[in-house]
Amino acid sequence: MQIQKVFSAYQKDLQQVEKYLSRYITSDVKLIPEVSRHLIGSGGKRFRPLLLLISAALCGYKGKNRFPMAAVMEFIHTATLLHDDVIDQAIMRRGKTSANNIWGNAASVLVGDFLYSKSFTLMTEIGNMQILKMMSDVTNVMSEGEVFQLMKCGDVNLTEEEYLTIIHKKTAVLISAACSSGAILAGASQDKVTTLAHFGHNIGMAFQMTDDTLDYMAKEKDFGKSIGKDLEEGKMTLPLIYALKKAKPAERKLIKEKVSRKKLSQKSLKEILIFIQKHGGIDYALKCAEKYITDAKAMLSLFPESTEINQLLAVADYIISRNT
Ligand code: IPE
Ligand code: IPE
Ligand code: MG
Ligand code: MG
Repeated sequence: MQIQKVFSAYQKDLQQVEKYLSRYITSDVKLIPEVSRHLIGSGGKRFRPLLLLISAALCGYKGKNRFPMAAVMEFIHTATLLHDDVIDQAIMRRGKTSANNIWGNAASVLVGDFLYSKSFTLMTEIGNMQILKMMSDVTNVMSEGEVFQLMKCGDVNLTEEEYLTIIHKKTAVLISAACSSGAILAGASQDKVTTLAHFGHNIGMAFQMTDDTLDYMAKEKDFGKSIGKDLEEGKMTLPLIYALKKAKPAERKLIKEKVSRKKLSQKSLKEILIFIQKHGGIDYALKCAEKYITDAKAMLSLFPESTEINQLLAVADYIISRNT
C-alpha cells in the first residue's frame, strides 16, 4: 500500500484534527495564534496524528475523542519544533523561515509552552487518566532527551549507545505514544496497547535515524530544513559516530579535530561527508533504521490481518523511504 493511499483513507478524520488545531490556538494575545499559525499552517506531514487515527481504528474506536487526542500529538510535536529551532538556531522549518528567525527566541519558547499546556487542557477534557499519566511521562522524557542532547552537544566522543538514548527520548517516545493512545482510547487489551507502543518505539527510532541521514543527504527543497545542520550545530549522529569508529586512529583524530571547530567551513563539511561515505556511515545508519522497521512490522503479527494493519505496515515502510 502506498503512503498517499493511507493519508487519503484518513483525509476526513485529519480535517477534523485540523479544526482542533486551529480552534485551540486562538487567544486574545495575538502573538500566540500568529506564531502557531505560521508553523502549523506551513505544512508538516501530520504523521503523528495519522498514527493515532490508525491505531484507534485498528482497535475499533470510533469515538470523537480521537480528534482532539490526535491534535494533542501534533501540538506537542509543534511545541518541540518551536523549542528545537531556538536551541539549534535554525533558520528554516517546513520550507519557510523558522518562527525564531521571525519573532525571536523568547516568542518561540513561550508559544511552545502555550502549546504544551494547551495539550494538557485538551487531555483533561478528554478525561482519560491512563493517557494523562502516559503523556506527562512522555513530555518529561522528551525534555530529558533534549537536555541530555544539549549536554552532549559538540562531544565528538558520543557513543552509539548514548545516541540511541537521545533519539529514544527526544523522538521515539512521542511516536510510541501516538500509536498506543489510539488503543487506550479504544479500551483495548494491555497486550495490544503494549504491542502498539513497542511498534511506535521502533518506527520512532527509525524515523529519527532517517532524519539524521537526510540531514546529510536530502535536497533542501524536499526536506524543508537546512542540510548539514546537525554537524554545524555540533550534533553527533549515527552516520558520523559509526564512521569515526571505523576509521584508523590518525584519520579519526583529524576528523574529530575538524568536527569540534567552532565554525565549520563548507570545505570541511564536504570532507566530513566524504569521510562518512568512505566508511559506510550512511549505509550503516540506514541499515539500522531498516532493522528497526523490520522488527516493528514483525510485532504486528499479534493482530489478525486487516486494512488498518496494512496501513501501519505502509507507514513503517514509508519512514525509511521518505525524502521529506
Ligand atoms: C521533525 O519531525 C523532527 C524530528 C523528530 C526529526 P517531522 O519530520 O515529523 O516534521 P514535520 O511535522 O513533518 O514538519
Ligand atoms: C528532532 O531533532 C528533535 C525533536 C523532537 C524536535 P532534530 O534537531 O534533528 O530535528 P530537526 O531536524 O531540526 O527537525
Ligand atoms: Mg533541529
Ligand atoms: Mg534533524
